[in-house]
Amino acid sequence: MSHRFSLHNQVALVTGASRGLGQALAVGLAEAGADVGLIDINDCRKTESLIQDLDRKSHYWQYDLQYIGQEDARQLIDSVQSYFGQLNILVNNAGIIRRSPAKNMSEQDWSGVISLNLNTIFYLSQAAGSYFLSRGTKGKIINLASMLSYQGGLQVASYASAKSGVAGLTRALSNEWASHGIHVNAIAPGYFKTEVTRGIRTDPVRNQKILERIPAGAWGDPNDLKGAVVFLASDASQYVHGTVMAVDGGWLGR
Ligand SMILES: NC(=O)c1ccc[n+]([C@@H]2O[C@H](COP(=O)([O-])OP(=O)(O)OC[C@H]3O[C@@H](n4cnc5c(N)ncnc54)[C@H](O)[C@@H]3O)[C@@H](O)[C@H]2O)c1
Repeated sequence: MSHRFSLHNQVALVTGASRGLGQALAVGLAEAGADVGLIDINDCRKTESLIQDLDRKSHYWQYDLQYIGQEDARQLIDSVQSYFGQLNILVNNAGIIRRSPAKNMSEQDWSGVISLNLNTIFYLSQAAGSYFLSRGTKGKIINLASMLSYQGGLQVASYASAKSGVAGLTRALSNEWASHGIHVNAIAPGYFKTEVTRGIRTDPVRNQKILERIPAGAWGDPNDLKGAVVFLASDASQYVHGTVMAVDGGWLGR
């Protein structure tokens, strides 16, 4: 059974991999046997060395993904596949959040979030999907969605809009590419301990309200996502297409 979860001889690319969920996802893929390319606006030395300690190959590209276009995405996917000789798995993880009441939200906080959290995912997926299609190979695309792919949240209009778009994009791309052996799925994390949630975790009132609503009774640890990403990246998810998989301590069931 366990060979179905093996990622040996597979190459993954994880965006936003310098820390937080992206770092855990990248290391989780390497633990399952994959070599892993990393892209981030910051350096990914730490993640790269964690992966190399597992005797897997890793390399990072320090790159701002916020306002990339189609050609940039194509070149990035090209660079990764030239470096590793192949690409099998794309994890679209890089994302930001900007909090403010909708009536005060700046143009930058609207378009910056939509651009990185949705446009970049489309362009990278389009480039990776075209690469898989042109070679006639299987491929896996895994997008980071959110509880705000289902809910509106509080004072996060651009983020909720982008993450709802990620759920739609996941289904749309899956409908086009599933018959070609390309799996497009998403992971929707609940509330995890990372920089993105530092503001609400350090606000005692918000922290308490969130904790009370999570059936598991605790914030997620980034390592809790490793199983989901390995499942979606491996043959274990052979018949899983277009799904948004919640890993949320039970939040959505509440
Ligand atoms: N933490 C949570 O509770 C939670 C919940 C649901 C979804 N998510 C999603 O998971 C993903 C990862 O979030 P996280 O909590 O690890 O956040 P994080 O801020 O710790 O990590 C985000 C990563 O993206 C990188 N990044 C930011 N802007 C970039 C840019 N312009 N170009 C390239 N890289 C850039 C950062 O350097 C960082 O490494 C995001 O898409 C986020 O929306 C997080």
